[in-house]
Amino acid sequence: MKTLVVYYTRTGNAKFMAETIAAELGADIEEVIDLKNRQGRLAFLPAGRDAMFGKETEIAQTKVIPADYDLIIIGQPVWAGSPTPAIRTYLKKNDLSGKKVALFFSDSNLGQAVEKIKALMPNSTFVGKLALPAKELRNKEETKKKIADWCNTLKIT
Ligand SMILES: Cc1cc2nc3c(=O)[nH]c(=O)nc-3n(C[C@H](O)[C@H](O)[C@H](O)COP(=O)(O)O)c2cc1C
Repeated sequence: MKTLVVYYTRTGNAKFMAETIAAELGADIEEVIDLKNRQGRLAFLPAGRDAMFGKETEIAQTKVIPADYDLIIIGQPVWAGSPTPAIRTYLKKNDLSGKKVALFFSDSNLGQAVEKIKALMPNSTFVGKLALPAKELRNKEETKKKIADWCNTLKIT
């Protein structure tokens, strides 16, 4: 199964998860880059507000064509119980109809994040979800084990 991991990260947690998943599954990987400055304390409130209200953003041109893959694994932090504007925009630009899709999150208070992101891919088949609390992600070795277990469940979908 040809697999692509697509992720957005602000502070690196989703990047660590994405790279671990890609290594585990031998998948290709694509980082989605938000061109809006999301760093620093002042960016926190607008980031949460943009996510909560379903705002899109400007993203850097992506390189990989998801149509070439069977399984797309999409990862990001949770922002205000919602998906991030960068991933929302990616999904607006890339049609994943007919694809298998798995989701991962670099925190665990998901709120409406899963429902909201699924609504952006009405014609995809969801095959898995992983949400790890940000504080658990500090333990890299434990995280790698949890991710390996999750990846094993994806191999048989
Ligand atoms: C604006 C904003 C809103 C957030 N809202 C939530 C939330 O609703 N639920 C949650 O579990 N974590 C929330 N977080 C925490 C991040 O999801 C968490 O720190 C995550 O590990 C960051 O991942 P990253 O390093 O890949 O950016 C929020 C963080 C930010 C910046």
